Amino acid sequence: MKYQDVIPEQAQSTILCTVNFKKDVATSEIVETFKDFCERLHPTINSMKIRFPYDNFKFSMGIGADAWERLFPQAEKPNELKRFSEIKGMTKTAVSTAGDLFFHIRAEKMDVCYEMMLVIHMLLKDVIDAVDETHGFRFRDGRAIFGFVDGTENPDSEEAKDVVYIDADNDPYKDGTYVLAQKYSFDLDLWDTLTVEQQELVVGRTKENDLELSADKKPSNAHTEISKAHDKAGEEVKIMRANIAFAEASKNIFGSYFLGYSKDFSITLQMLQHMFEGNEKDTHDSILDFFTPITGNLFFVPSYEQIDKIASGEIK
Ligand code: HEM
Repeated sequence: MKYQDVIPEQAQSTILCTVNFKKDVATSEIVETFKDFCERLHPTINSMKIRFPYDNFKFSMGIGADAWERLFPQAEKPNELKRFSEIKGMTKTAVSTAGDLFFHIRAEKMDVCYEMMLVIHMLLKDVIDAVDETHGFRFRDGRAIFGFVDGTENPDSEEAKDVVYIDADNDPYKDGTYVLAQKYSFDLDLWDTLTVEQQELVVGRTKENDLELSADKKPSNAHTEISKAHDKAGEEVKIMRANIAFAEASKNIFGSYFLGYSKDFSITLQMLQHMFEGNEKDTHDSILDFFTPITGNLFFVPSYEQIDKIASGEIK
């Protein structure tokens, strides 16, 4: 395996877990424990695929900027790895929250995701504190929690490789990627006050059949209009996105866990700025009237070659 598994579409079940390294444990102990974890990671993933061959098991791990600086003070940092800076919009803020490691675990069944979490727990429990663990599900026919199909305009799996994995030959972190992870809460009661036609104007697509609204019907602050990013030549540029639904309905908790994977974080950042800060015409993306960020982190997702270098102490 060269790359971590971040591209293919969602599975039925997902665990998204963010942890911090303990502040009161010596860094040397954390480094040794994490090196051991990295050494065991590849065989563990192979083992999971052998044990659960029909469950489409996928795993990826990201490392935050603070953790990188603490663990590998001598190593060059991946180019764009910085603590995510909050973006204060007129109505909502894209918050920046703590996170040293991020685990994105997918499988057809939740118990398979849990098996992997159990391994993480066994190997890392002495050196980590939980920040957040979210258990998500594939909703209906691939819809985000608000009932619209998610991922339609993503690059297909061939194009996605070019979009996601760092490919510059002179980059020491070639084949790695960056992930923006944001947990959003969702106001279902407010959303339900809208008619389907009003909801479609918020998203810019039809709800049932997932068709893009024609240019004359799509508002400029619709999510799929305002969030787009462009390069210097004005060409539209893409990232690989996913919105994983989660809910605890009896507690009135509903939400979407957004993941944006890209070899170039500045593209993701541009999308976020459009959503939160708006543009000449609009103050913000109208999706934000219903969704509120509760976490926000940027992680570097190393290739397996880099994970092996962490294990051997070559990255230090
Ligand atoms: C509450 C969180 C979010 C939800 C529920 C959500 C949902 C959706 C849905 C349903 C679509 C249309 C289908 C598709 O192409 O995927 C979409 C498109 C899109 N979203 Fe989001 N999204 C969220 C957050 C974000 C964030 C944080 C970004 C950027 C950092 C983003 C960027 C985009 C882009 C670029 C498109 C495609 C626009 C196009 O080319 O048509 N989204 N989103």
